[in-house]
Amino acid sequence: MIGIIFIAPPAAGKGTQSDMICQKYGFIHVSTGDLLREASKQDNLEALYIQEEMEAGKLIDDGLIMDLLINKLSIINNSGFILDGFPRNLSQAHMFEETINKLNIKQLLVFYIDVPFDVALKRTLGRLICSKCNHVYNSSIKDLMPASLYHCDDCKSPLSKRIDDTEDTFTKRFNFYISETKPLVDYYSKQGVLYRVDGNKDKNNIFMQIDGILNRYLS
Ligand code: AP5
Ligand code: MG
Repeated sequence: MIGIIFIAPPAAGKGTQSDMICQKYGFIHVSTGDLLREASKQDNLEALYIQEEMEAGKLIDDGLIMDLLINKLSIINNSGFILDGFPRNLSQAHMFEETINKLNIKQLLVFYIDVPFDVALKRTLGRLICSKCNHVYNSSIKDLMPASLYHCDDCKSPLSKRIDDTEDTFTKRFNFYISETKPLVDYYSKQGVLYRVDGNKDKNNIFMQIDGILNRYLS
């Protein structure tokens, strides 16, 4: 089984690339951001904590992240999986190593999607998400625009913005990425499993770069 990790700034295209890989290879997509957004809808103190931290662009407690993740990983069979947004710091990377043996992973591949601040900011500010089917659009990128800014092309449900997609919160998320997450590039590079991908390209070009590397391990 292949396990993929994305190390990338906010709005680099982790979710977009995960969807494309899953569509082609049937891998399971595990996004800690999505798991947190789901958990934040509960009516309890933990949900309140998650909402506040996400809105402030801060990282959520490692223990809580591990609980959500381990629960989700229990449904993985032999299909391969993508970790989108995890690990986010060295401590999470170490905790993941303790669980990795139980997962029967033949190969771990880490894709570092490199995107400059300004490009990622533009993508964040333009992001629109369908409230029903979660299809992701972008109001400022030609190929990713919905036909109408208000409704999903596919299911016609209303489009909405993420609460943390403001310039202020994005800047905090990006700064956390630089201080907490980017050191993982060095960490996985030393393990010989890291591949750099140029994220300042359109989504099909980025997918071609990733797929080219993935193919070497699948064949
Ligand atoms: P998370 O949901 O993971 O957010 P993020 O890392 O900030 O990444 P995004 O989801 O914003 O972007 P993406 O890379 O998936 O890009 P996408 O494909 O959508 O985390 C949110 C928060 O949860 C964190 O801030 C933290 O508080 C918490 N959290 C999550 N995981 C955690 C963890 N492990 N530990 C602690 N806390 C955690 O694309 C973005 C936009 O760009 C879209 O509009 C898309 O259409 C467009 N786009 C995509 N590709 C391209 C392209 N190539 N060219 C132009 N536009 C593109
Ligand atoms: Mg995402």
